Amino acid sequence: MNFLNRLVYPEPAERLELLRILLVIVTIIFVTYASIALIASTASAIANRISRKKGDNLFARFAHDLADLAAPSRGTILAVGVIPIITEVLIYAQLLQGVSVGVTTYLTISTVFFFFGFYFLYTYKKSWHLETIYTTFQDLASSHGGTLTREVTSDVASFERSASATKRRGGHRSAILLWIGTWIFVGTMRLAFSPRHWAHSTFLSVLFSGATIWSLFTYAVTAAAITSAAAVFFFFKWADRISMMAEPSYRAFVKRYALPVGVAAAALEPLLIFFEIQNVPEAGVTNLTFVLAAVGIFIALLVMLLFYSMMKESGINLGGYAFIGAIFLIFAWAAKNEIAFHHATENQDQVLATRYETMLASLAPPKPPPAMSGKEVYDNICSACHMFNAKKVGPPYFMTLPHFVDHMDSLENFISNPYVAVPGYPPMPKQPLKPQEVKNVAQYIMSVYLAAKKAGKAQYTQ
Ligand code: HEC
Repeated sequence: MNFLNRLVYPEPAERLELLRILLVIVTIIFVTYASIALIASTASAIANRISRKKGDNLFARFAHDLADLAAPSRGTILAVGVIPIITEVLIYAQLLQGVSVGVTTYLTISTVFFFFGFYFLYTYKKSWHLETIYTTFQDLASSHGGTLTREVTSDVASFERSASATKRRGGHRSAILLWIGTWIFVGTMRLAFSPRHWAHSTFLSVLFSGATIWSLFTYAVTAAAITSAAAVFFFFKWADRISMMAEPSYRAFVKRYALPVGVAAAALEPLLIFFEIQNVPEAGVTNLTFVLAAVGIFIALLVMLLFYSMMKESGINLGGYAFIGAIFLIFAWAAKNEIAFHHATENQDQVLATRYETMLASLAPPKPPPAMSGKEVYDNICSACHMFNAKKVGPPYFMTLPHFVDHMDSLENFISNPYVAVPGYPPMPKQPLKPQEVKNVAQYIMSVYLAAKKAGKAQYTQ
């Protein structure tokens, strides 16, 4: 992305460290939300379809609640979806500047898919609400026995039709876009920490590599675990708001569908983490990678136990812990990626640090020109008014210098701050000289005088 390259500028090494920490943080935020959006929109589209086929009200309710979970509000989608991924693109552009690798380009492409995915998700969620409003309106209107004009009722009917059309299509449209976005995102993450693939990777080879497909699978399983935890947590937290939640049949329904997914996903997780580690290129593996993997496996088992006990017992309030545990899995994943990326790109960091130094050097003010030598000062400045053996504007040096033979400091003093000295001459203007140049020229004229005197040639004409 050329335009991104123009946005970035070299940074010192410490600032790069900061960027990497920021990268882990925005990745956790983004992946947590993107996971929920991905799985909840997919599940909602499926539930919506089943409800239409079977005319089952519980499925419709489930689809509606899942849509609410996936797209809480426009502000939330911006804050935890759109802004983090854009930040991520910018950070990668910064860290990989000057490297002609597709990472930032592919990440930008995936951002576009996410963006439209989120957009359709939002309209889908809205269409559920609109449809409810229109239906309620029509019910009210018909119970009031035709107090409304036919125009209004037919308008409302057509709004309702378009809302339910959006609802029908919007669900899987957003799910498909989000799946494609995720696929590119995951492939790009892998590419980022595999520098030896940089030179010869193409967009397609990144998408269809076995490693990418495997990562996508791992990602989807983790996403299922976190969505299932979030669904249980939020649905039951909303219970007072959602009158339907109070209905035992719906509670049982949510538990029946959301919890087994969580148990299965969390149970698969340790195995996936184990293989995921095998998948990291050697350059990117450190001890910390293994520690993170071990902690990740431990947390996954814990999350699985939480889900399992929720399934067995009626106490559903463990959903919050399962949710936090699942977020930690994402943290471990993001941190592992970042460490691998960091290690695989150490050379790149050095290149950037050097580039920063070069930039600093080019920004530094030009060095002041070195002080002139005594002869240079005399030739360039003093000789305009002085000669050694004759009068010019000022008196001949052979006449004035004898006073100064043992008083070099007075001579320097005079040169830097001339005062009226020799009768019959105008005052000498102050010369723009550096202290070092004053010293140099004083020594120079004195040495010329002394040499001439020694040679018996210090005569002058006035
Ligand atoms: C624009 C002309 C001009 C320039 C340039 C000039 N001088 Fe002078 N200089 C004079 C004049 C006029 C006097 C006599 C001033 C007086 O006696 O009051 C003088 C006097 C002197 C004296 C005699 C002082 C004394 O107490 O006897 C020295 C030594 C001297 N200049 C050194 C220098 C040196 C070294 C430079 C070069 C850095 C220099 N001058 C540049 C005009 C100049």
